[in-house]
Amino acid sequence: MNHKKKFYITSPIFYPNANLHIGHAYTMTVCDVLARYHRLMGHPTYFLTGADENTGKVVKAAEEKGITVPKFLDGITENFKKLFADLDVSYDQFIRTGVKKQHWPGAVKLWNKLVEAGDIYKSTYEGLYCPQCEAFYTEKDLIDGTCPIHKIVPEKIKEENYFFKLSKYTAKIKKAIESNKLHIIPETRKNEILALLDRGLDDVSFSRPIKNVPHGIPVPNDPQQVIYVWCDALVNYISALHYGQDEELFKEFWPAQVHVIGKDILRFHAAIWPAMLMSAKLSLPENLLVHGFITSQGHKMSKSLGNVIDPYELINNFGKDAVRFYFAHEIPPFDDGDLTQENFKSVYNAYLANGIGNLVSRVMKMATSYGLEQVSLATDEEILKLKEYKVYHAYFKDFEFTKAAHLVWEKITQADKKIQETEPFKLIKTDREKAVRIIEELVTEIWSIATLLKPFVPETAEKIKETIKKWQMPEAPLFARKD
Ligand code: MSP
Repeated sequence: MNHKKKFYITSPIFYPNANLHIGHAYTMTVCDVLARYHRLMGHPTYFLTGADENTGKVVKAAEEKGITVPKFLDGITENFKKLFADLDVSYDQFIRTGVKKQHWPGAVKLWNKLVEAGDIYKSTYEGLYCPQCEAFYTEKDLIDGTCPIHKIVPEKIKEENYFFKLSKYTAKIKKAIESNKLHIIPETRKNEILALLDRGLDDVSFSRPIKNVPHGIPVPNDPQQVIYVWCDALVNYISALHYGQDEELFKEFWPAQVHVIGKDILRFHAAIWPAMLMSAKLSLPENLLVHGFITSQGHKMSKSLGNVIDPYELINNFGKDAVRFYFAHEIPPFDDGDLTQENFKSVYNAYLANGIGNLVSRVMKMATSYGLEQVSLATDEEILKLKEYKVYHAYFKDFEFTKAAHLVWEKITQADKKIQETEPFKLIKTDREKAVRIIEELVTEIWSIATLLKPFVPETAEKIKETIKKWQMPEAPLFARKD
């Protein structure tokens, strides 16, 4: 029996109306770094991702391609999985909300719980709908009459819907957030949502007529309506754990330790989702980690601006670990961060080619060409217990993965400095014993660094470990310089 605290982490489920871009790859890498850290620490970890299929966007995209919705979805979700594999994303489950067996029993059970709690009622909805957000807005939400996120004029809609009594939960949600029972990171996002709660929450429409999303989940006892996109999507976090089925995973892993989300979907996760859980008398997730956007040429990526960056432009040119490194080390986690090929290249050369890559080559070259014996190698577990890495763990505890990455690269810089200052390559001719000791210390150091690198650049970490175990130079430079 493992007594270590379990770690359930979720990514948002992505709209499968188009292939994923670099911003989505960022979200996934953040989740993966955290999941890998917890696995490394021996915590029972479950990492969920998936596709948010029951949306009108998908119907439109399939029509444009001239193929059926199921065929379209099969193709796109395969592309998602391929990208995740190409980025070494170690998810445990990929949920597809369109797959009945996987998702629907949970969604239906939760809906029935909301009904039992007396929180669902039928009414005529007359208002504003942004088809991009798949969200309803009131006049006070709009900026200059447009959707605050997509800057488009929302559609005026009048239809019969089921409503969820979100307003009833405003005070309870506020209390949960203020007390950090539902901890929102960073503080600025917490304040943003508290300000929204202070303005009060309106009840939300929780269903749409079936004609809008014919492949959506029918409302129990009313097949003319389907469960509204966000109500359906948010449930994925528990339906994936077989809520509404055998519930074994649910008992083991719910509540989530963290939902990782982008800033644009904060209100759904910090207001609607907790209210749904409260209504169904389920525990709240512990943390919401809200990251910023990757911008391109200073703007949010959009097809119309033509500034969408395909992750493969970078993966093919620099390798997956370079992309993972860049996300973890260079993008400010709680703000927007711009990404350009030029900057990517200079960071790659500085920290990877000239940084860790060069360090490993230099140290292993000295160790092998001066005929040193293999040094004794500690296990990951022993290394992770070392006092000097306490800060590394503290950063991860606070979800400050960027600071943890900086700390590791600080260690790399220190090892480089040690070579420059002690010059073992000269010392070997005059004081072999001392030179050998320094080189052994350096090997031990890069061995430990490789452990710390595992969450960030798993393939590179493995290559370094192999190189040291086999007591040889890396077969090829870990990161070839790019000019
Ligand atoms: N389907 C909803 C989420 C439902 S979760 C129950 C959705 N999907 S999305 O495909 O539009 O976005 C998925 C995630 O990608 C969101 O967290 C969003 O913030 C993130 N990103 C979209 N563009 C991004 C950037 N340019 N940069 C970083 N993250 C970005 O919303």
